[in-house]
This record gives sequence, C-alpha cells and structure tokens, in this order.
Amino acid sequence: TKVHHHEFIVQETPVKRLCEEHNIITVNGQFPGPTLEVREGDTLVVNVVNRAQYNVTIHWHGIRQFRTGWADGPEFVTQCPIKPGGSYKYRFTIEGQEGTLWWHAHSSWLRATVYGALIIRPREDKPYPFEKPSREVPILLGEWWNANPVEVIREAQRTGGGPNVSDAFTVNGQPGDLYNCSREDTTAISVKPGETALLRFINSALNHELFVSIASHKMTVVGVDASYTKPFVTSVLMIAPGQTTDVLVTMDQAPTRYYIAARGYVTAQGVAFDNTTTTAILEYDCGCTTELGPTIPPAFPTLPAFNDTGAATAFSAGIKSPRKVEIPSPVDENLFFTVGLGLFNCEPGQLCGGPNNNTRFTASMNNVSFVFPKATSLLHAHYYDMPGVFTTDFPAYPPVQFDYTAQNVSQSLWQPIPATKLYKLRFGSVVQVVLQDTSIVTPENHPIHLHGYDFYILAEGFGNYDAEKDADKFNLENPPQRNTVAVPVNGWAVIRFRADNPGVWLMHCHLDVHITWGLAMAFLVEDGYGELQSLEAPPVDLPMC
Ligand code: C2O
Repeated sequence: TKVHHHEFIVQETPVKRLCEEHNIITVNGQFPGPTLEVREGDTLVVNVVNRAQYNVTIHWHGIRQFRTGWADGPEFVTQCPIKPGGSYKYRFTIEGQEGTLWWHAHSSWLRATVYGALIIRPREDKPYPFEKPSREVPILLGEWWNANPVEVIREAQRTGGGPNVSDAFTVNGQPGDLYNCSREDTTAISVKPGETALLRFINSALNHELFVSIASHKMTVVGVDASYTKPFVTSVLMIAPGQTTDVLVTMDQAPTRYYIAARGYVTAQGVAFDNTTTTAILEYDCGCTTELGPTIPPAFPTLPAFNDTGAATAFSAGIKSPRKVEIPSPVDENLFFTVGLGLFNCEPGQLCGGPNNNTRFTASMNNVSFVFPKATSLLHAHYYDMPGVFTTDFPAYPPVQFDYTAQNVSQSLWQPIPATKLYKLRFGSVVQVVLQDTSIVTPENHPIHLHGYDFYILAEGFGNYDAEKDADKFNLENPPQRNTVAVPVNGWAVIRFRADNPGVWLMHCHLDVHITWGLAMAFLVEDGYGELQSLEAPPVDLPMC
C-alpha cells in the first residue's frame, strides 16, 4: 500500500461558461477539481490551503474514515472551517471500499464549484470482479450558476424563499451543445470500436437528481457508491446528488458520434427547476469525419420525463449486491425518521419569501430543524466533553403521528423546532432507520446521505411505512450497499448499519438547499473497547473556530 500526498489550493479562478466569465472558487485552478486515484488500503494525505475569501472545508464523500472522523470535513460537525489564509492536512486510509467516490467542499454552497472524483481501485494483483475495461472515464455531473452560488443561498436565507435555480447542468464542468456558447467546449469522450469502457458517473449537482442516458448504447451497472453490484443492464440511470454509479459500456454500435445526456428528475410540485439538458459526446475513434446527427435517436438518447417516478423506481429496484450479504442483526436501535420540508411563520419585521407570503422555508427530520454550532465543532465538543454545544435527545420517532403523505397536516408539524440534537449510539449496535418522506410542504424525493458509514438499503416503498404490511418488501438476501439513499417521493426507505465507527456523523439530505434549511441530524457513536475501537486523537493542525 502507498501513501499519496496532494496539495489542494482553494483559490479564486476566472472561468468562462454560457458566454460569461466569472471568478469561481476552484481547487488548484481546475474545474472540476483534480481526480484522486488510489488503491484500496492506501493512505491519502491532502494539504488543503485556503487562498480564497471564504471559510472552507473538504469532505471525502463516502470514505468511511474509520476512527479518523477529524478528517471527514463537514464544517462545524467534525472540524471548524479552514479560514482564509489557513490550511489543514486531511489524512485517512481507504479500507474495504472499491469503486467511485468523490470529494467536495462542505461549507455554504461552495461545493457548486469545489468538487472532484476519488477513484479507488482494487489492491495490486487484485482484479475487478468484472471484465477488465480497456478505458476508465470519470464523468462528473454538475450544475452551473452565472451568479455566485454562495450569494444565491445567502439571498434565499435572507428572504426565506427558495433559491434561484442554476443556469445549466454540466458534464465534467461543461454545459454541452444545447446551451449558449457551449458547443466548442462540450466534453468529448473518445473510444475505440469494440472496446468496453468503465464510466464512473458522479452526481455532484447541488440540488438535482438526474436521469442519464447514452444514445444507442446499453449500460451495465457494476458498482454504486464504491460498493460492487450485481451486473444490471439498463438504458437509463437515475443518480441522486452524492451518489455514484459505475457502468460498463461496450462500443458495439456504428462507429460515429453519440450524445450522452442528463437532465433533472424533479418530484416537487410547483417549484422552479432547471428543465434543461446537458450533453457530452461519445466519440468513436474511427477516422471518420461524421458530423454529429441531430438531437434525435439514434444519435440522441430518449430520456424519461422530468417527473417519471416509474423510471426512477425501476432503476433503484435493479441495484443489488452481487451475492448474499451478511446483514447486521439483530437490530438494537429501531428508528423512524421523517424527512421533509416545513415552514416557519414569519416573525414581525422578517422577510417572508416562503409560500403565501407569510412563511419562510425550513426543513427537518422528526420535526427538528438542525442547527449547526458556530463556536466549535460537534466532534470537538464530544471529544473534550464540552457542555452546552449539543444535546443527545434527538427523537427516535416523530413527536406526532400523522398521515405523512397527506398535505395540510396540523400546524405543529409545520413549525419544526430549530435545535442541535444528536442521537447517541453504543459502539457496535445495529441500527435500522426508516426514512419517511413527508408532504407537509410538497412531496419530494430526498437523497439522504450518512457520513462515516455504508448502509444496506433493505426496502423502499410508497405511502406511509407500515412495519407489518411492508415486511414482505425487505430484501434480506442481496440488498445494495450505499452511502446515499434516494428516499422515494411520497414514500420511504429502510436502511441498516452497524455503528462500528466512533465519532460524530452527519446524516442529511444531499440537496444543498435542504441541508441549508436544516434537513439533517447527527449520530454520536461512542468509543468501543480499547484503542482500536476508539476515535483517534485530533490532528495538531485541526482548525479552531
Ligand atoms: Cu457529500 Cu455531507 O456530503
């Protein structure tokens, strides 16, 4: 195994997209940021130097960070932010994970432009559990704002309303042929006729789940979130923010050029959304001079409608572990968390940008709208037993029972309580969480991401979860393992994991607007027995608030 050293300079960089040049925050002047490539068992040491004018942290999305919670990255959760002029060395070892993950800023909305791929290959002499691809290509899907994303969310928080939507979706930072001034810079992926390529899709978009398709080509899904899957052939992917999907594609079509296209999967009703389509080009290296055909089949893929929940459900139902897995059991902690938006009534003198002009948007889990501390990080407060930073009374169940999928429920559920509440877990306990979407403001698909863990998705369904009636929906054979689950609109998902990683671990909706509004909670996992089951001591250069 190897130790890889990298330097990430966070800086302001001029970038031109959609006919306009803007200064954006980048790592090392690159957009998207540098791709990190390691093997399982390797150690990464990344010195992050902040030369921008914003506070920043970097999160290594999906990395287990066993005992190294200090390197996880969410600001005010596992560290205080790196201030302008400061630096922090993230050091962690990749254990037991192979496939595609990514890294991104975990401060304000900086991850709009501060993100990159993190590729984990098997150890030397260990093959992939599928035919060896002749080419590997990371494909980062994103969103582009002409405005400064940090200002976009600041403005939304000021008014209490929804933030402006992005101006384009992107593939590897480029909007593609269907947008203004983007044709020349459209991402092109060169392939050889007959070869099989491994495409590593990452949804790094801020606020949109995406459908992805390649014209005339089938994709075989072989991995998600750095866990291998049972090969599954499909013509369309649904990838939620935070998730990754590895597919094998064989170049078995007429040697010419084909579009890869992605657009939003949007389930919320009556909200503005980016309904445009981003494209990249799959280009056969054939010495042929064929112009790309019009944006219709066979050169252009057929994407599902923006609200096609059937297509999204069919895709997630196809994802399974490659073989029978040992699911942690018996369950020690049976938890039921609602996830959804809510509304605050305006205080006198406050702006009321929410629905009906007398509310402000908020979001919650079990009616608690998560408040991040400001003076220290949760992990720091836990490690040094500092009182007054958080409480450990996050509710195991929602405080009020109601029909979660019906709209117009009681006022008390419209008024989440802002608080910093954690849920305490004994080291090694087996945790099952039912994640139930609520429709208090609008029914919506929420990609829920857990830091520090991979979990099994045992079941998913629509309506209100019912332990008895839904028992037959559980897959206890080969459920998929992930770090982010797209909780179905008007529905629920059940996840299970063993709490064997001590520390403080955020769980949140990976739509950035929702985490801003408080759709988050954190688990406090206690140390186990002895040093090897305990959180390491904090690094000496850990930023202070
Ligand atoms: Cu990829 Cu807490 O996030």
